[in-house]
Amino acid sequence: MKTTVLITGGNKGIGLALTKAFLALEYRIIVVARNFTDFAYENEVECLEYDLTDVENIPQLVASMGKIDILINNAGAMYSLPYNDYPRERVNSMLKLNLEAPIKLIEECVKTGGTTRVVNNASVAAYTGHPDIWYGMTKAALVNATKSFAKIYQGNVIINAVAPSPVDTDMQKVNTPERKEAFKKSVITGRFATADEVAKTIVWLATESPEYINGTTVDINNGSYMR
Ligand SMILES: NC(=O)c1ccc[n+]([C@@H]2O[C@H](COP(=O)([O-])OP(=O)(O)OC[C@H]3O[C@@H](n4cnc5c(N)ncnc54)[C@H](OP(=O)(O)O)[C@@H]3O)[C@@H](O)[C@H]2O)c1
Repeated sequence: MKTTVLITGGNKGIGLALTKAFLALEYRIIVVARNFTDFAYENEVECLEYDLTDVENIPQLVASMGKIDILINNAGAMYSLPYNDYPRERVNSMLKLNLEAPIKLIEECVKTGGTTRVVNNASVAAYTGHPDIWYGMTKAALVNATKSFAKIYQGNVIINAVAPSPVDTDMQKVNTPERKEAFKKSVITGRFATADEVAKTIVWLATESPEYINGTTVDINNGSYMR
C-alpha cells in the first residue's frame, strides 16, 4: 500500500513544489485547499476543496481520508496589515488558518492510526517578529506547538518545523518593493528562497531525517537570521 501524505495548500507555491516532490516518490497525495482552478495535477492527486478556517469540521474532513502517514501543515496566509488597523475578522481568520487548523489536523491525523511524521511550515518571522504582527505571532506559536507535540507523542510521531525567510511565491505580493529589496540585501545570495528549496527540506523531514531530530525547527534563511 502506498504511503499517504496530506499536504495543506499543496496546490500553490511551496505546497505545489511539495506535491510535485511527493508525486516523484509515488506517494498517495491528498491536497486540501480552497481553489484548484489552476492546478495541473487533479488526475494524480486527491483534491479536497476546504477552507481551513473552518476548524470545527476538520475532524469530519480527516475522517473521510483513511489513514494518514505524513501530515504537512503548509497552508497559511499573511495579510501585512498595520497592527493598529487590523480588522477583528482578519485576526480571527489568521489565528484559525495559521494556528488552530494545524493543531487540529495534527490531533485528527494521529487518530487515523498511522501518522508517523508531521512537518509544520512556520517562518523566520517566528524569531524576528514581522510587520504583520499576527502573522509573526501565529508562526512563533506554531514553532512552540512543534516542541510541545514532539514531547506529547514521545517519538511515536516525529514532528518538526521549518522557518523559511521570504520565498518567491504569491505570498510575497502583499510586501512592498522596498521591503523585498531590503530583504535581498540581508541574505548571502541576494535573492529569495525558491519554493523547491523549502520543499526539499520539508520532504527530508517528512521522510528520512533521523528520529533524533524531533521537536526541531530548521532555519532556511540564507544568513539573514543566524542563531
Ligand atoms: N512565501 C514566503 O515568503 C514564506 C516564508 C516563510 C513561510 N512561508 C509559509 O509557507 C506556507 C506556504 O506559503 P506560500 O509561500 O506557498 O504561499 P501561497 O503561494 O500564497 O500559498 C498559500 C497556500 O495556502 C492555501 N490557503 C490559504 N488560505 C487557505 C484556507 N483558508 N484554507 C485552505 N487553504 C488555504 C492556498 O490555497 P488556496 O488559496 O487555494 O486556498 C495556498 O495553497 C505558509 O504557511 C507561509 O506562511 C512562506
